[in-house]
Amino acid sequence: MDKKIPVGIIGATGAVGQRFISLLADHPWFEITDLLASERSAGQRYGDVVKWILPEPLPARIADLTVRQADAGQADARVLFSALPSSQARTLEPLFASRGHYIFSNASAFRMDEDVPLVITEVNPDHLDMIPIQQARRGWDGFIVCNANCTSTHLIGALHPLHLAFGVKKVFVATLQAASGAGYPGIPSMDLIDNIVPHSYGEEEKVETEPRKIMGDFVDGAFRFAQMTITAHCHRVPVLDGHTEAVSVALGKEATLEDILDAFRSYRRLPQELSLPSAPDPAVVVVEGMHRPQPRLDRMAGRGMATVVGRIRPCNLLDWRFSLLGHNTIRGAAGGSILNAELMAYWGRLG
Ligand SMILES: NC(=O)c1ccc[n+]([C@@H]2O[C@H](COP(=O)([O-])OP(=O)(O)OC[C@H]3O[C@@H](n4cnc5c(N)ncnc54)[C@H](OP(=O)(O)O)[C@@H]3O)[C@@H](O)[C@H]2O)c1
Repeated sequence: MDKKIPVGIIGATGAVGQRFISLLADHPWFEITDLLASERSAGQRYGDVVKWILPEPLPARIADLTVRQADAGQADARVLFSALPSSQARTLEPLFASRGHYIFSNASAFRMDEDVPLVITEVNPDHLDMIPIQQARRGWDGFIVCNANCTSTHLIGALHPLHLAFGVKKVFVATLQAASGAGYPGIPSMDLIDNIVPHSYGEEEKVETEPRKIMGDFVDGAFRFAQMTITAHCHRVPVLDGHTEAVSVALGKEATLEDILDAFRSYRRLPQELSLPSAPDPAVVVVEGMHRPQPRLDRMAGRGMATVVGRIRPCNLLDWRFSLLGHNTIRGAAGGSILNAELMAYWGRLG
């Protein structure tokens, strides 16, 4: 890239917004120029208004930027990463897209819309070809591209290699999701310490549907969902970062343990082939031993961009079972958006 592409972050003060800042601060292709948030933060120096929760220091140049109010619909950068709550995304993301901005969104508001690409860069980059159709239908110069829910992202990270090799027919998944997945300050500590909280706000429905859109096909200008049945049981646990998922799968073809290990270990896709700046390589990390993966030990695999699998063994109900783990605010949120934008930048489609 000759010159860095200016980018902005909407929802810059939240848990995901901070991850965007941390991942973009020294990015080789992108440069943060705009920070947007609610009326609460607008007009103030970012360093004064943010409650910075990441271990790495807030970069001084970013701390000095003044936060703009998102609902004014003004930003200098054409490329905007959205870390808005879904309720706000529903009105603000179309406002910016209608004004020519390219929105890479973490919110669930438009993920399942029939003209919105829901993309995991390794899995379905071809779905980005929906963008001109979306623009024509909605009369926008800009666009909205979404990335998946954090839990779906890592589930798909492990399912896709198996789906390519054997066809995945049925999935049972029980999740143990980190506290940071609920944003900041998130669930009150008195609810979560010494406790596990079942999800009650549509998380299971997302995990049961998003993988079918993402692993499905884009044919004749429409998305065709993958034919697989997924059932999910989702829980919030007192872990800071890193979602763990216990998965059982029924496959379309017989597979041995060696076949499954080979499918995971040989999984290299476009981001790895192009060496995109944020691409993990390998995308799937296989850990050995029946006590792994664990959040504290494994969530930073591939700089937080990889999906970690382990404990692969036969299942008494379906064919195979395993545990997976992935960072929810890096690959499961900000990093997933950034990798999508990197591919679009590589293709020259962010001009
Ligand atoms: N956390 C995760 O692991 C994760 C993973 C995947 C996807 N997501 C999704 O990512 C999005 C952000 O999540 P989060 O965890 O970062 O939430 P969060 O910590 O609650 O942060 C929300 C952000 O949105 C801003 N905001 C709130 N109301 C606004 C308004 N009316 N206008 C403009 N900005 C407004 C807040 O700004 P102020 O500080 O000014 O109020 C803050 O910057 C959500 O849609 C979430 O579902 C999260």
